[in-house]
Amino acid sequence: MQNLRYDFNNLMAERVGEHGVSDAQLQALGPKVEAAASAIENVPLGFRKLLFNTKLADEVAALAQKLNKRFDNFVVLGIGGSALGNIALQSALNHPEYNLLERPRRRGPRLFVLDNVDPNQITGLSDVLDLDKTVFNVITKSGGTAETLSEFLVFRDALIRKLGEKQHVEHIVITTDPEKGELREIVKKHSYASLPIPPDVGGRFSVLSAVGLLSAAVTGIDIHRLLAGAADMDAACKSKKLWENPALTGAALHYLMDKAKGKNIQVMMPYSHGLRDVADWFRQLWAESLGKQMDRAGKMARTGQTPEKALGVTDQHSVMQLYIEGPYDKVITFLTVDEFGSTVTIPHAFPEYDTVKYLGGHTMGELLNAEQKATELALTKCGKPNCAIRVRKVDEKTVGTLIYLLEMQTAYAGELYNINAFDQPGVELGKNFAYGLMGRKGYEAKRLEVEDAGKPNPKWVVSV
Ligand code: PA5
Repeated sequence: MQNLRYDFNNLMAERVGEHGVSDAQLQALGPKVEAAASAIENVPLGFRKLLFNTKLADEVAALAQKLNKRFDNFVVLGIGGSALGNIALQSALNHPEYNLLERPRRRGPRLFVLDNVDPNQITGLSDVLDLDKTVFNVITKSGGTAETLSEFLVFRDALIRKLGEKQHVEHIVITTDPEKGELREIVKKHSYASLPIPPDVGGRFSVLSAVGLLSAAVTGIDIHRLLAGAADMDAACKSKKLWENPALTGAALHYLMDKAKGKNIQVMMPYSHGLRDVADWFRQLWAESLGKQMDRAGKMARTGQTPEKALGVTDQHSVMQLYIEGPYDKVITFLTVDEFGSTVTIPHAFPEYDTVKYLGGHTMGELLNAEQKATELALTKCGKPNCAIRVRKVDEKTVGTLIYLLEMQTAYAGELYNINAFDQPGVELGKNFAYGLMGRKGYEAKRLEVEDAGKPNPKWVVSV
């Protein structure tokens, strides 16, 4: 049985009528699709090279083994591409209540990912950490992100106060650029353990680098199988033909959905508790890569579909009414699972009541997948385009395959939009204003710009 199927049926006009893509539209896009495939094949993309960097994976696994034995808590300090992949791997591949389990059922230290700087959250986390038994993995590719560096300074200080200057070093691992940046200098000067992020791997494409692999390996996830799963998809992406290469086909159809069909919102909806955070990770990948003001020719383009996430079945009882009957501006991507790792059978009871009786004997997995099928049909019947990525089961191999599919789909889509999918000038602009406001040297002009923007006019503010 195959590990992953990408089912595009309900994106086609044949199924959803005028809101679907026709054969003719796909054929007309053919030359552009081939050019996109060639462009991606000809550029040695950093995130593709990761799959074959067994040296790095071995280095990560060796360090993980040491940390696994020594510590009870592993805290990731990172944000965006330096956190979302870690969260996605953890929820997909470890026990749903991982942090609450006792060892040895919990395969490694508890995992916390701190990807915000709310003081209440930081204080709360500090309250539950025994610093003697905690290691912090500071992850920042640029080495300069204010949020991550601030967290590093806070916890480093706490470690020094508790354990002393010499001892604290053993509780910090820094994942950053191998050469560049002041953080790398700090690593060298203070002898912190460290891992490299290859310079040609962008933040949101870095989950299969040391960024995502260390927290995964430390918590017992088989990272070599994860990479092997991704390599399976890479092999499928060698083809430049639609309907052979799932990532290329996904990119082409979503591009047409957006540009030809006006579906400028893409909702990823996993019907799997384990895959819920893959949708969150994908949201950043699709948004930051494709949301661009200028195209490669320097022309104003304003590209990108707005990615959203919903969770089956939970959000059937929240946003589904809008998806089914609201505007024709969305395309839904379901994530489904054939085999759940566990079986919960619904007991027979109350045979005298029809509203209860029929449930007895079915499994919860059956119910979840029946709900997904029902929702899919309801959308399709109302002409709402949707597609499904179906994985056989959620394990290291299939999650690697899925993650890599979505990365490649994003890279191909960037080519179709003719934009640079690997930069993020908008994010940098916000970062620079924040540096100015916080007094970083060299960003004085940014501070002035924020101050000159003026105070809010009280006329437009309502207070209670
Ligand atoms: O994808 C990206 O490049 C961003 O989302 C970054 O991951 C995020 O801004 C954090 O950057 P850094 O890892 O440099 O701290």
